[in-house]
Amino acid sequence: MSTPTVAFDPTDNGNPRHIAIIMDGNGRWAKKRFMPRVMGHRSGVKTVKRLVEYCNNKNIEVLSLFAFSSENWRRPPEEVSLLMKLFITTLSAEIKRLSLKKVRLICIGDNSAFPQELQDMIVDSETLTKNNDGLTLVIAANYGGHWDITQAVNQISAKIKAGTLPDALITEALIAQHLTTANLPEPDLFIRTGGEERISNFMLWQLAYTEFYFTKTLWPDFSTTLLQEAIDSFKGRQRRFGRTGDQVQNQEPPP
Ligand code: IPE
Ligand code: IPE
Ligand code: MG
Repeated sequence: MSTPTVAFDPTDNGNPRHIAIIMDGNGRWAKKRFMPRVMGHRSGVKTVKRLVEYCNNKNIEVLSLFAFSSENWRRPPEEVSLLMKLFITTLSAEIKRLSLKKVRLICIGDNSAFPQELQDMIVDSETLTKNNDGLTLVIAANYGGHWDITQAVNQISAKIKAGTLPDALITEALIAQHLTTANLPEPDLFIRTGGEERISNFMLWQLAYTEFYFTKTLWPDFSTTLLQEAIDSFKGRQRRFGRTGDQVQNQEPPP
């Protein structure tokens, strides 16, 4: 059997180390109010700010937010362009304050498709915050789980061709090390707002043993109280990683 990439820790029944969220429902939130969709996205940014602060204060290690999927280019060009502008204005307005609060920002996804201004801003923001030891905030933009696995395999293939991989045996650990989330713990808790119960090409590899939580609440209405409800639900679950409930309860170490 191959070595599992998922760590087994029978004593860990506290807060999730890594929370990954699909922020969905901005458009419907706006539509309900007879407002343009962009108003929903603007309101959604306020939710992001509230949640980042809450997670940072609660010493959550990693918060990953799905901001723009590789499939979201299929939206009307005006909406795509407004989303880019919103990303730029939010990042430039917030990055210094985030850094003062010790937040470390990492952007995952294919940045090369973004306007140059945004690409530069992402590099500058990551550089500014790279030594911060508070919450790691992962923004997934132009991200897709299929893309992530494919770029990892391409990196590995290039290393094999260049002869820099001493052992060409491809293991699960090797693939995990080449994903955009290498060096981060895998998500413990996955939340999707907005009522849809699907992954929409989010972290496909990384979510293998994540606990799922779906809520009908639209993203602009998602509050810190509702986040805490999701965390409390997570804490009440028994993570078995393939073992029996009794084994986990008796804290037997894996063979
Ligand atoms: C999520 O909200 C934000 C992005 C995908 C950028 P939506 O825009 O998907 O909102 P709904 O699903 O149309 O309500
Ligand atoms: C997923 O939401 C992507 C983001 C939240 C960025 P979508 O609203 O795009 O997902 P689908 O299309 O309904 O699956
Ligand atoms: Mg949606």
